[in-house]
Amino acid sequence: MKIAVVGTGAVGQVMSKRLSELGHRVFMGTRNVEQSRKRKESDAWGTPGIGSWIEDHPNIDLVTFKEAAEKGEDLLIFGISGMAALDALDQIGKDLLRDKIMIDISNPLDFSKGFPPSLSLCNTESLGEKIQNSYPDLKVVKTLNSISSPIMANPKLIEGDHVVFLCGNDLNAKAKVSTLLQSLGWKQDNIIDLGDITNARGTEMLLPLWIRLMGKYQSPMFNINVVKAPVLSPGA
Ligand SMILES: NC(=O)c1ccc[n+]([C@@H]2O[C@H](COP(=O)([O-])OP(=O)(O)OC[C@H]3O[C@@H](n4cnc5c(N)ncnc54)[C@H](OP(=O)(O)O)[C@@H]3O)[C@@H](O)[C@H]2O)c1
Repeated sequence: MKIAVVGTGAVGQVMSKRLSELGHRVFMGTRNVEQSRKRKESDAWGTPGIGSWIEDHPNIDLVTFKEAAEKGEDLLIFGISGMAALDALDQIGKDLLRDKIMIDISNPLDFSKGFPPSLSLCNTESLGEKIQNSYPDLKVVKTLNSISSPIMANPKLIEGDHVVFLCGNDLNAKAKVSTLLQSLGWKQDNIIDLGDITNARGTEMLLPLWIRLMGKYQSPMFNINVVKAPVLSPGA
């Protein structure tokens, strides 16, 4: 497939590399290509500067957000800082987002008052819904947002069963995304389709818990599992 990966942070880097290794043609989107190529220093989390990372990955094209959406015609993977998500989509524009399938990995984390961040949207709304409502013809599938980047692209880094949630309004888009997740190594039984895009409220509200778990384990290398009783009716 020709895939747009919009975002150059840890998510953009990990997903672009993995998808390229799987044989997809990847177009990675950034605000300003020239400026991004100059960014060589790693950040506080150890994520390489996109300028040095892209030099090490010549199979991946670094282009603007808009060009990525143009050239990555089969699928758009969205890994943008939550507070900037709508601005980034605005730079792509409605025409290129019409009828496209978008995997939304972003979270509405607001770091303006320091750490831990708060959720800028929650309870009765979510970033996934906000994006879907702003672009009704875009097929938003919210998934992978509560999983750290190395694990989202390679779930076998954790032994045993652990789950990935998925939600969205378009059944065909969800089926296509589920196939892609399986190609990354996610077991079909561990991909939990929660239903329509309003379920993004729940998966985004996992983030406050995720952040505290990262503090407890001093590592992002964990994930959540759902364990069911053999008989599901309570009291049976
Ligand atoms: N890191 C993880 O393991 C992880 C896991 C699950 C979900 N997520 C979510 O995935 C998203 C991406 O996370 P990340 O850690 O990869 O990187 P990030 O630092 O949250 O976001 C980096 C991207 O945001 C863009 N950006 C920043 N400010 C912008 C602005 N004002 N206007 C337009 N674009 C802007 C940057 O554009 P440039 O390329 O131009 O700099 C860059 O592409 C976030 O929403 C995060 O919550 C992250």
